[in-house]
Amino acid sequence: MRKLSWIALCLLPLLLLVLTACEEEADAAGEPSMSGGVAEPFMPGGDAERGAELIEVYGCPACHTIPGIRGADALVGPPLTGWVERAYIAGAVPNTPDNLLLWLQEPQQIEPGTAMPDMGITEQAARDIGAYLYTLRRDDGSR
Ligand code: HEC
Repeated sequence: MRKLSWIALCLLPLLLLVLTACEEEADAAGEPSMSGGVAEPFMPGGDAERGAELIEVYGCPACHTIPGIRGADALVGPPLTGWVERAYIAGAVPNTPDNLLLWLQEPQQIEPGTAMPDMGITEQAARDIGAYLYTLRRDDGSR
């Protein structure tokens, strides 16, 4: 019995090590990251660089101020600065990846009558654009 508990004690650090490694793996796999104790949204399957190009292709800068996008300083719609830190989309639904995907593809589904047009964006394009928007944070002076 005594011998057994010694073995258990020796195995404990090993167990902790394995658990820590698993957590790191989860981070690498794109689990929502924690910043200042608040979980930040993350767009699975989205390519932020491609998203930045698509934002220009779809003409979002005609209505929005979007940090990091050339000429995107319009104020028809709200500025998308610090987007990853925003709690709501259009003040209507929580800023989650799924809600953002729906908003970008069919804003009228979330807020009937909104001035944001339905632009026929494909799901993959919405993922890419969403991934870019989720790179935008308030304290990033370069954006
Ligand atoms: C014709 C102008 C117009 C265009 C083009 C447009 N938007 Fe919007 N957008 C708006 C308006 C107006 C709102 C505010 C909607 C509301 O609150 O009902 C909005 C809201 C948003 C929001 C939510 C903002 C917030 O503060 O909650 C996001 C995100 C967004 N737009 C992204 C985009 C992206 C990305 C594109 C390009 C694919 C785009 N918009 C194109 C007018 C536009």
